Amino acid sequence: NRQANIRNFCIIAHIDHGKSTLADRILEYTGALTQREMQDQVLDKMDLERERGITIKLQAVRLQYKADDGETYLLNLIDTPGHVDFTYEVSRSLAACEGALLVVDAAQGVEAQTLANVYLALDSNLEIIPVLNKIDLPSAEPDRVKNEIEEIIGLDCSDAVMASAKAGIGIKEILEQIIRKVPAPAGDPDAPLKALIFDSHYDAYKGVIVYVRVVDGSIRKGSEIKFMATNKKFEVIEVGVFTPHMTIVDELSVGDVGFVVAGIKNVKDTRVGDTITDARNPAAEPLPGYRKINPMVYCGLYPINTEDYNDLREALEKLELNDASLQYEPETSTALGFGFRCGFLGLLHMEIIQERIEREFNIPLLTTAPSVIFRAKLTNGQMIEIHNPSNMPEAGKLEYIEEPYVKASIIVPNEYVGAIMELCQSRRGEFVNMVYLDTTRVTLTYEMPLSEIVYDFFDQLKSSTKGYASFDYELSGYKQSKLVKMDIMLNGEQVDALSVIVHRDKAYQRGKLICEKMKDLIPRQMFEVPIQAAIGTKVIARETVKALRKNVLAKCYGGDITRKRKLLEKQKEGKKRMKQVGSVEVPQEAFMAVLRID
Ligand code: GTP
Repeated sequence: NRQANIRNFCIIAHIDHGKSTLADRILEYTGALTQREMQDQVLDKMDLERERGITIKLQAVRLQYKADDGETYLLNLIDTPGHVDFTYEVSRSLAACEGALLVVDAAQGVEAQTLANVYLALDSNLEIIPVLNKIDLPSAEPDRVKNEIEEIIGLDCSDAVMASAKAGIGIKEILEQIIRKVPAPAGDPDAPLKALIFDSHYDAYKGVIVYVRVVDGSIRKGSEIKFMATNKKFEVIEVGVFTPHMTIVDELSVGDVGFVVAGIKNVKDTRVGDTITDARNPAAEPLPGYRKINPMVYCGLYPINTEDYNDLREALEKLELNDASLQYEPETSTALGFGFRCGFLGLLHMEIIQERIEREFNIPLLTTAPSVIFRAKLTNGQMIEIHNPSNMPEAGKLEYIEEPYVKASIIVPNEYVGAIMELCQSRRGEFVNMVYLDTTRVTLTYEMPLSEIVYDFFDQLKSSTKGYASFDYELSGYKQSKLVKMDIMLNGEQVDALSVIVHRDKAYQRGKLICEKMKDLIPRQMFEVPIQAAIGTKVIARETVKALRKNVLAKCYGGDITRKRKLLEKQKEGKKRMKQVGSVEVPQEAFMAVLRID
């Protein structure tokens, strides 16, 4: 019975605890890749991912393993992204499995991300197999970490695998436990097709490649399929599995994990979490858990060189093909000209898109301060969303304004509790509770405005705890808040791209800091440039950039021509990253300064 010999599993771990290394080892052990093909961290495909050492896109690999019981099993390993921005994608990839390896660094212990993902796995009723990784390290304390897992998560660790992904220890034991403990898929092969979409990517030749887990029924070439959330219908051109190379097969049946190609042009038709069914014999109900993912963070992207506008649009179109969660629409700023307002899942997602545009498409960008989605109740009773500070209603029309809050959990060693409390309070956090994990570490829970963590909260958290804190958050809802729009004026002209929505109690301090920072960043011009922060018509802070007196070339004592040329070149380069705002030249850093302040 084929179905009885399938095992679908994923690996959950905190960032850097060794998930990718372990996946590589498992691929190697099962012979999915020959030594020659073996390349470090096969599952993390994109260069950018590799450079940043994080997993962004999900991938799935089918492996064959001959177990000690003499049977050959088909193992599907589904990779999950490890960052808070992609929690929903994690939950869908978990829903495609029956089991999970919980990898915990034996020298570090349980971290916030581990916990968040374990809870997701428990929600999906997965069989969890604890693996203590990095036992080769002299600092490894497997017994302490085992206790921690038992106490915090309540998982029995008597069978926990002692492993070193790096040294190749424990790999066979992990595979044997997967066979013994993870249940085989349960679906009905004769029921109408239900396949869960857990990822997709765009291929220039084949169109969208949809990653699925078949739950009931089967799917093959020629099948007419329907996407239940979008109601779109397609004819299947091919189905296959990743071995990890794309390999075409005749059909995908119950329990199988693989891909479907159906001449789909747009990834937005294939939403993660949606159910594929048979168009002629559809399932009555889609699989549970589908959710439309909405961006949480917005910012403006403007080409530094105005002639790049069309290229930027094309770049966004291309990126969108592969990224259903990226949203954008044209936007015009008086200060910056033509650009796009873009929506992202979180800050990391934003940085990744920004970097890809600059790197892969070669378009230097100017990004405005990221902002979250505020909601405003108008005096006429209407509720509107504010994606951009420029949409802030006038004071007279505004009844109240709300901002998104998150529940943030932070795990730290005891000695940093004070530092974390101070940081969270300075970010308008409301203390919820503090729980001791063991004698050395605690979990702190805060309710915090999302707008306070989209700035540099993560960096601050790391630097105030020497990197020991781990952090996770989930959206908890909207709350009324005293928010105002603060504008920045240069030489009397309002720079719309620098406007931010801030809490009233913080506006003065924030305005003052922005003006001070801008003063240092805006080069002297031929005239005096006042920098002002204002709420409505009321100026709350001011700095002045003094007029320029000397010619740059005066420094060169007239003589050395190559030096002069170099200086001019340098100036020209600097200019490129400047944006003319009214009569004033503003460098990119000034725009960044608005968000980096604290
Ligand atoms: P993300 O992709 O960011 O989620 O990280 P990851 O969990 O996939 O971690 P990765 O496999 O990239 O490993 C992180 C670091 O730990 C790398 O430098 C690995 O070489 C190292 N590492 C992984 N497994 C072991 C191990 O068993 N022993 C030791 N000493 N180092 C390991």
